[in-house]
Amino acid sequence: MEYIGLLDSGVGGLSVLKRLYEIMPDKNYIFFGDTKNVPYGTKTSTEIFSYTKKILEFFLTKNVKNVVFACNTTSAVAYDELKKYFSSKLNIFPLIQTVAPSSIEGLKNNDTVAVFATRATINSHKYQQEINKINPKINVLELDCTGFVEIVENRRYRDKSSIDLIKSKLDIVKKYNAKRVILGCTHYPYLEPIFKNILEVEYFDPAISLASIVKEKIGNEANGNNIEFFVSKNPDEFIKSAEMFFDVEHAELVQLN
Ligand code: DGL
Repeated sequence: MEYIGLLDSGVGGLSVLKRLYEIMPDKNYIFFGDTKNVPYGTKTSTEIFSYTKKILEFFLTKNVKNVVFACNTTSAVAYDELKKYFSSKLNIFPLIQTVAPSSIEGLKNNDTVAVFATRATINSHKYQQEINKINPKINVLELDCTGFVEIVENRRYRDKSSIDLIKSKLDIVKKYNAKRVILGCTHYPYLEPIFKNILEVEYFDPAISLASIVKEKIGNEANGNNIEFFVSKNPDEFIKSAEMFFDVEHAELVQLN
């Protein structure tokens, strides 16, 4: 049985799995949430490379052929290096590189697009590079949203400190009159209802176009409908935090060494 593997540091990647499953329900999926090492966004590239390499090795033992990096951070800082090791064995879809063209569709020269992402993604300038390769006249406003991932993983949606942090980032979007906000971390779609309550602007969830590109590339041939979840820590917490995006009945604990 052939699988599509998805990886992330935690529940964020489920916002991608949801979109893939919506348009390709008759496939087999393996999801790995590296909850032991979440958040990835404040780790070094070397650490993120090493976590992801172990997950890809695990996928190889599970008959995974196609891998979707359901994680912007990994796509930004580890994909280029990882593909040297794995491209002969796995067909990998890195998130940012795959969705960059659709993330600026409909924008005009001199428009500003804001990118909300983790510190590691922002410091890599991957979104800016990929977008400006397509159109150098789009202004890319990169905003380090460290702290958002913890709000989602710990379900602290109502805390005043969470709302204050979110507001401080949306104030910058408003100040620069950005036309669109790219949700450049797969955890952030969980916060979209809060964003929308605070600021009316266009929010772009890359998972939607990522899913349709993956479908186009791998084909929609039915080969099962099995979904397996693996995490590296606290399966029960993972299941609770997942709720908003995916009904996870069971997540198996795996230690990758
Ligand atoms: N959800 C991931 C991303 O898209 C990782 C977030 C994190 O663990 O910091 O970047």
